[in-house]
Amino acid sequence: MYLKQLQLEQFRNLSSAWLEPARYLTILHGCNGQGKTNLLEAVYMLGSGRAFRTTRVPDLIQHGSAAAAVTGQVQSAGVENRLLLVLEGSTRRISIDAKAVHRAADLHGKLAAVIFTPDDTAMIKLGPETRRRYLDRSLYSANVGFLQDYHGYYRTLKQRNAVLKNNQQHELLLWTEQLAAAGIRLMQHRSRYLSELQHLLQHQYTRIAGTSETVALQYKPDVAITSADDLLETMLAHQEQDLRYKTTGRGPHRDDLLFLINDRPLKGFGSQGQQRSFVLALKLAELDHLQQAFGEEPVLLLDDIASELDRQRISNLLTYLRQRQVQVLITTTDVTPFRHLLQHDSRLYRVDGGNLTYEGNGLS
Ligand SMILES: Nc1ncnc2c1ncn2[C@@H]1O[C@H](COP(=O)(O)OP(=O)(O)OP(=O)(O)O)[C@@H](O)[C@H]1O
Ligand SMILES: [Mg+2]
Repeated sequence: MYLKQLQLEQFRNLSSAWLEPARYLTILHGCNGQGKTNLLEAVYMLGSGRAFRTTRVPDLIQHGSAAAAVTGQVQSAGVENRLLLVLEGSTRRISIDAKAVHRAADLHGKLAAVIFTPDDTAMIKLGPETRRRYLDRSLYSANVGFLQDYHGYYRTLKQRNAVLKNNQQHELLLWTEQLAAAGIRLMQHRSRYLSELQHLLQHQYTRIAGTSETVALQYKPDVAITSADDLLETMLAHQEQDLRYKTTGRGPHRDDLLFLINDRPLKGFGSQGQQRSFVLALKLAELDHLQQAFGEEPVLLLDDIASELDRQRISNLLTYLRQRQVQVLITTTDVTPFRHLLQHDSRLYRVDGGNLTYEGNGLS
């Protein structure tokens, strides 16, 4: 699937922008703070209905404006559709070919996208919350049914915490049971997804790094479960303490994800280069996974990769993606590392103060 046209109105600092991406390679270049990442964010949001940097809708609307709109002409499964995302106040509305969409599932598979940003590498070192958010977000891209179970768990968690706060002990058991049941579903999603991703990750890592190192993505649930009752038992055993602290201490809202290289934590034992290769491999594994889920290549958004990868790796990556016929949108402050990769059908845009200028294919 790919994006043929994109129009932005009042989306962050992009007041009115029009883009016709290339089928394969589009480069968006400009100085810091000009709107390059904002543009990728708009594409990602159009495909998923959600933001990747923030979910606060008002932040996405240009300061001083009442609403923002992102329109995209997309091609998937041989069909062209017009997707429209309108952000107003704190609400978002989506329509496909001028028909309002009420379920996230309808949007699924129209413009699946994977985004790779410098923040992804930071995820190795940051706290579990960042990795959890990453895991859930990428899981959601491939499986729209996950959203319901995700919201189900977090809604119940909120209610149980309110019960704890108000010390409504007679209601606690009911909420604990519901939370454990919802928690099991959430954990099953996470565990299944990670095992699906595992061999894709290893394959991509070996391809990128060209070594025999083993890499792994290991689910590290807060409560290890062998039977569906384990989570409930742990939560029940923790009830006294939860009442004291007025919050739910144990459960999948505390889950983590371990990145391993040769069976050791990547965080402490991986070199910078290994860490970068790992995260890139993870992103490409996501791409593989979506390709399998939709039977088509998703779009790849590469935010500021020149800060993450050296020239050789950029060359290898883009050559590989071109062979796979993936549509790629890249942001950079400097076009130099990409010059030799431009082809007659590439497209170059300059991003300046929220304005886009088309500069042809960049070949001179
Ligand atoms: N809601 C908004 N309304 C207006 N401007 C906004 C809004 N949200 C963010 N901005 C502006 O967008 C700019 C940042 O854009 P963006 O992150 O896309 O920059 P960038 O080109 O990717 O820069 P860098 O090269 O530093 O990554 C900032 O100047 C910020 O003030
Ligand atoms: Mg940026």
